Amino acid sequence: MTIKRVRKAIFPVAGFGTRFLPATKSVPKELLPVVDRPLIQYAVDEALAAGIEEMIFVTGRSKHAIEDYFDRAFEVESDLQSKAKYDLLETLSGTRLQPGQAAFVRQQEMAGLGHAVWCARYLIGDEPFAVLLPDELLWNPASPCLKQMCDTYEAKDGNVVAVMEVPEQHTHRYGIVSPGVSEGAVTEVKGLVEKPRAGTAPSRLAVVGRYILQPEVLKILEARETGAGGEIQLTDAMAKLIGKQPFHAQTFDGARHDCGDKAGFIQANIALALERADLAGPIREFIATL
Ligand code: UTP
Repeated sequence: MTIKRVRKAIFPVAGFGTRFLPATKSVPKELLPVVDRPLIQYAVDEALAAGIEEMIFVTGRSKHAIEDYFDRAFEVESDLQSKAKYDLLETLSGTRLQPGQAAFVRQQEMAGLGHAVWCARYLIGDEPFAVLLPDELLWNPASPCLKQMCDTYEAKDGNVVAVMEVPEQHTHRYGIVSPGVSEGAVTEVKGLVEKPRAGTAPSRLAVVGRYILQPEVLKILEARETGAGGEIQLTDAMAKLIGKQPFHAQTFDGARHDCGDKAGFIQANIALALERADLAGPIREFIATL
């Protein structure tokens, strides 16, 4: 049997980003910049590097700016053209998706991540798909997270989630894997639990915002069952596929920055600035003065 290639990715970007209020009152969290690129750009670049062809953004009422971001910026582009600022024009053209490569659907109620993913069901159809949460910046430019996962998917089929080890005292913040046999970075998933109560987590392997899923999960989400926090949880729907389809966890080799959280967002800016030849010097000098 041939394994269907993963061609489509869902980016759930409908959330209110309340942890970043007041900034997110009018600016979507996903457009907040890490150094000089918005968070959503890092996630889209990661998807492109993994061979994804169709990007589906699940947005909400206050998120038009995301759609505009992936369009042409006529005024600024013609201004740059007239001033012969070709390097900046090049930077802009590198961020544009091809015509028809991006689709936008609205989540009409904030009913949870599982609900956001389900909102893309007609665009996904009967294909495997990826889900990327743009507020988690998974950083390994040489081997992006979704690429690592696609390699595992091509070997194992079924479903693949990205995981990282977190301290025991943080397990209650994540979806946690109940692990089976491990082969290198790939671990069989025997169970999944969303935000386990302190002391009850089956491991320290936490799901970190990247998923490759089979379309059957969309049928499960149709039932609108709620879980932790009264939300329709993606983790609970995925857990129902275990035992019926192959299910593996890919331990991500790279750095993870939780940019949905203020401290994680600031850390991401510092870490990525320190990797930039034009910024590392002044940033190091400043830090040394603190
Ligand atoms: P978060 O809970 O981290 O994002 O959801 P949030 O709700 O925007 O942020 P806070 O907690 O209020 O600060 C993780 C991801 O899932 C999306 C969010 O946009 C974010 O990318 N999401 C979550 C949806 O698209 N719809 C939902 O109903 C819930």
